Amino acid sequence: MNTKKWTAGVITSSDKGYAGAREDKSGQVIMDLLETSGYEIIKYVIVPDEQDMLEKEMKMIADELKADLIITTGGTGFSTRDVTPEATKAVIEKETPGISEAIRYFSLSITKKAMLSRGTSGIRGKSLIVNLPGSPKAVKESLEYLIEPLEHGLEILTGKASECATT
Ligand code: MTE
Repeated sequence: MNTKKWTAGVITSSDKGYAGAREDKSGQVIMDLLETSGYEIIKYVIVPDEQDMLEKEMKMIADELKADLIITTGGTGFSTRDVTPEATKAVIEKETPGISEAIRYFSLSITKKAMLSRGTSGIRGKSLIVNLPGSPKAVKESLEYLIEPLEHGLEILTGKASECATT
């Protein structure tokens, strides 16, 4: 019996990871954290930093696999190849700016360089898509901070909860 409460897809955006030239530690950190927090990983994919490929994967995981949560890592910075936020903005139907603001707000207490992540987030259908930065350190810091309030957002998004509990 599947005892996991949520389903999740993980997308790593990395030219080097896609080419097999770098181990994808960040994708693994995300999967480990999600799995210990009640999520079943139903898709994990490494794509190069290409907007059309990122959009295609996000759409497939949201529309066909109907994952509750899609976490991306990488491609949020200032490199000319960094296009994850652009791909995300192209596929979401509603923005969830508070999530990305919270990631930066919390991360700024750790490193001023957190201001350099352009990560965004939003809702497509009943899937929540959240961009995280690329390093395993940044991923761990961000996701550990987010994981609890995210669950309440997913409960509302999927109709498992009808109102906000403020405690
Ligand atoms: N956020 C946290 N929590 N911890 C970090 O170490 N690194 C920053 C930032 N956000 C960092 C962070 C750095 S150095 C950059 S360049 C941006 O994320 C963008 O990262 P990306 O291009 O790998 O997506």
